[in-house]
Amino acid sequence: MIERTSVKSILTGECKDERVTVYGWIKTARSGKNVAFASITDGSISSPLQVVFDRDKFDDISGLATGACIKVTGRIVESPGSEQSREISADELEVIGPAGDDYPLQKKKHSIEFLRSLPHLRARTNTFGAVFRMSHHLSLAIHRFFDESGFFFIHAPLITTSDAEGAGEAFQVTSMPLDGITIENGDVDYSKDYFKRQAFLTVSAQLEAEPLALALGKVYTFAPTFRADPSDTRFHTAEFWMIEPEMAFFDLDDDISLIEDFIKFAARYLHDKCPEDITFFNRFYEKELKERYRMLMESDFARITYTDAIELLKDNTDRFEVAPEWGYDISTEYERFLADEHFERPVFVTDYPASIKPFYMRMNDDGKTVACTDLLFPQVGEIVGGSQREERLEVLRARAKECRIDLEDYSWYFDLRKWGSAPHSGFGLGFERLLMYFTGMENIRDVIPFPRSKGKMI
Ligand code: 4AD
Ligand code: MG
Repeated sequence: MIERTSVKSILTGECKDERVTVYGWIKTARSGKNVAFASITDGSISSPLQVVFDRDKFDDISGLATGACIKVTGRIVESPGSEQSREISADELEVIGPAGDDYPLQKKKHSIEFLRSLPHLRARTNTFGAVFRMSHHLSLAIHRFFDESGFFFIHAPLITTSDAEGAGEAFQVTSMPLDGITIENGDVDYSKDYFKRQAFLTVSAQLEAEPLALALGKVYTFAPTFRADPSDTRFHTAEFWMIEPEMAFFDLDDDISLIEDFIKFAARYLHDKCPEDITFFNRFYEKELKERYRMLMESDFARITYTDAIELLKDNTDRFEVAPEWGYDISTEYERFLADEHFERPVFVTDYPASIKPFYMRMNDDGKTVACTDLLFPQVGEIVGGSQREERLEVLRARAKECRIDLEDYSWYFDLRKWGSAPHSGFGLGFERLLMYFTGMENIRDVIPFPRSKGKMI
């Protein structure tokens, strides 16, 4: 067994031992006449631990190179420096994994773009260590919230037959060698494929979560989602994680309350669990970060219907490149105006025109709009898409036809409306976009360990 003390327990004072053994990677090392210093990290906390080597005891310190992994045994002493309260006075040094001058992270500071080219090394930096620690805590906050709220965690398939959102952004899955595909009458013969039919990577777990909600009451998934999204922005990626709760006996108002409660819970959870990392991001990345947490925890989110939002946008039409018009989507410039400028806090936009939303959303009495919401955040834009689901068989059939959905493909989905149908609702929240907001990171590629996006895969 490897006996070791974590840097975190030393720096926080949790460790009461006098003598410890620490393992870590050297961030910086420098040598003077009488002493040499190395600051090391083991990922447990963002602050590095300073180790002091008395040159009388150590004549060969050539292994103290940036990037090397070392094992140090020594005494915990009060640090005379102002940066940290405790440091290690070393008695023994072992270089576990040496590193040479060609280690790419030599300098103290590197641009975020440069680090993006080194996904296998960037987690060793303060910034990415903090991102991935917060990613962990946010994941746990999700499970904690839904468990405490009486939800069951379910696993939906990642390989599906449907493009739930109807946006044509699904990646196809096949075991057929692409150069040997049989084409008959102009169509690919999928009976020769692995599943004997066309298959895709899931774009949303919603359709499979609905049957579980109509059996267990309240369920949620938290899983990978894949989209061949044509948008290549700092908010889009081809592989991301979505949180998708689905609840029987919930209408749109219940859905919206749940979204707000969940996000407030997550903010409070991270605020309590990650004060060090939040302070780090606040100092180096987003001066308003602590204010974001305060705002999320304390103020109510705003709410406006799509139709009212379009009126509001029209009143400010000279501000926009494209004039707002009923029937078109809320574009990024409108999102910015609503969330960043007008409301200055998260805003639920509800009841969009049916014509720009998927077939499964519940038709409102006006026959034109559907019971849905997009939650827009300042700085990040859309974080959540949710809706009440159409539970009336005939209405759903008519909508599916309008959207040119093949009823055969979805027969099981219609069965749910045939036998024991019930009002139900759900939403999908993009994990990485929420993490961007909580860390202040401006590009989605910087909150994912190995990001995959259009034209880019390392
Ligand atoms: O609004 P969307 O497309 O909603 C659905 O898929 C519903 N079926 C969810 C449901 O009701 N169960 O996606 C939900 C969220 C978006 O608001 C956004 O946060 C995130 O998923 N998202 C993406 N995140 C990163 N990269 C992309 N390409 C994304 N596309 C959607
Ligand atoms: Mg959406």
